[in-house]
Amino acid sequence: MVLIRENDFDEMSRCAADLIAAQLKRKPDSVLGLATGSSPLGVYRRLIELYEAGKVDFSRAYAVNLDEYCGLPATHPESYAYFMKENFFDHINIKPENTFIPNGNAADPVAECVRYDHLIGWLGGIDLQLLGIGFNGHVGFNEPSRHFIDETHRVKLTASTLEANGRFFPDGKPPAYAITVGMKTIMRAKTVVLIAGEEKFEIVKRAFTGAVTPEVPASILLDHPNAAVIYTGKETIE
Ligand code: GLP
Repeated sequence: MVLIRENDFDEMSRCAADLIAAQLKRKPDSVLGLATGSSPLGVYRRLIELYEAGKVDFSRAYAVNLDEYCGLPATHPESYAYFMKENFFDHINIKPENTFIPNGNAADPVAECVRYDHLIGWLGGIDLQLLGIGFNGHVGFNEPSRHFIDETHRVKLTASTLEANGRFFPDGKPPAYAITVGMKTIMRAKTVVLIAGEEKFEIVKRAFTGAVTPEVPASILLDHPNAAVIYTGKETIE
């Protein structure tokens, strides 16, 4: 894993977008693991610009999202299905049938988790996984815990995550549960790109300068052979 410090959010976003564009140039039918939240917004904006300039082509690409809230309709503006269409998919030439996101409304969430893992396996795994990071070190919705969970699973969100994500909901209350891919899907991705803006500096430092621990899920990337953590902040993390 390498740590790359950029000067600001725009440079961080540009760096990650360029890595994704290069991945698609090398392998046009890449399977991209995608993330939501405010962190990747600049990456998606930059990729849309590159697409409009004819510099990147998504026509053969696949997109597999990390996670989804339980209990929000796909048309809810805070559902991750809606977020991805609104902020990315509707502006590029990816085929809608090549985009995947867990169904947070599945009648049988356990079956949905199994289906999602099979789907990722059927696609041949993730070529490049884009990640943000939560203030508590979560990736996707893999929350701090006493052990890493390998498979896609339904998770009860922690108080820290509910508070952090409450800003997106008019009543300040996100759903209490979500479905997230597990750590195996993330660790098996051939390349991982984690982006973290200045407000995440402390958790980035904590995650990537200590030991690997499920208490800070992102720390597992220390063991990934091809992961880049692109961050901004006033100091360089050694
Ligand atoms: C959510 C998502 C994560 C994301 C995190 C950070 O919890 N499930 O994938 O990394 O938020 O979001 P933000 O980038 O808005 O801080």
